[in-house]
Amino acid sequence: MHNFLKRTEKEPPLEVTVKKLAKERKKREREVESPEWVKTGVPGFDDLIEEGGIPKGANVLISGGPGTGKTIFCLQTLYNAVRNGHKCLYITFEESPERLKKHMRQFGWKIDTVEENDLFVIKRLDPFSIARAVEALLAKAAGQLPMGMKGMPKVIPDGFNPYMIAMDSISALESAFTGKPESYRIYIEQLFRLFEMAGTMTFLITETEEAPKRYSRTGVEEFLADGVFVFYYGKVRDIRLRAIEILKLRGAKHVNKIVPLHITNKGLEVFPGERIFEVE
Ligand SMILES: Nc1ncnc2c1ncn2[C@@H]1O[C@H](COP(=O)(O)OP(=O)(O)OP(=O)(O)O)[C@@H](O)[C@H]1O
Ligand SMILES: [Mg+2]
Repeated sequence: MHNFLKRTEKEPPLEVTVKKLAKERKKREREVESPEWVKTGVPGFDDLIEEGGIPKGANVLISGGPGTGKTIFCLQTLYNAVRNGHKCLYITFEESPERLKKHMRQFGWKIDTVEENDLFVIKRLDPFSIARAVEALLAKAAGQLPMGMKGMPKVIPDGFNPYMIAMDSISALESAFTGKPESYRIYIEQLFRLFEMAGTMTFLITETEEAPKRYSRTGVEEFLADGVFVFYYGKVRDIRLRAIEILKLRGAKHVNKIVPLHITNKGLEVFPGERIFEVE
């Protein structure tokens, strides 16, 4: 056993060793504490965040008007994660899985291969079945939804442990709760809790007006979410310009500019160093 009291001349004094060990331990603790940063892999997007990615486990609202690129952004981000060997789940309330796969093939993404390897699952859910199940459970359990949402249509398939989830869109879900905004609020809060417990990154698409003042229909989601990314397709004289903004991202330092976004036959690309308008 090493005797600290009998130190050879070559060894540094005891207090130096202790200080060094303490410093190393602190460094290790910091490494454990600091969140991991997950890249979207969408060209240019990750450069909007000083840390180069989204904090692991964050849930982010993907908000914007029709045709602004919300679906493509999520498909592209999940596909990039899948290419790095991560399992991903795309939940769709509107577009059929076949149509989504067609979009992906058009961008040259090899969806059929990753699907065969059980890395990418596209699951279609009926928002009305969820709304009916929520109503039935709330009526039975005095306004409470059971933890883990037992008895509800399964959002995450059994035995599938996704690294990232996209939900397209929670606005479609909200529409199914006609005249029952309180039931929707209870469900959405449980859903956020479920994702938090699963520790997955989630992208929740919300449809907004063309120039949104609110980023979700009820306003609850934007407060529950760790991040809000806003997609624009604004009219300037007789042309439309695409742009994107990180409105909020808890725990990250991000650019606070609205920056240009392009959609090409390779997918989305963000231009963090460029401006939408020329400044004279
Ligand atoms: N290959 C391509 N090249 C250029 N633009 C494209 C290409 N493919 C799609 N787009 C553009 O992307 C838009 C669709 O993007 P996306 O489906 O992601 O929008 P969204 O925000 O999800 O819309 P919605 O709210 O209707 O679901 C199309 O309306 C089109 O303008
Ligand atoms: Mg869409």
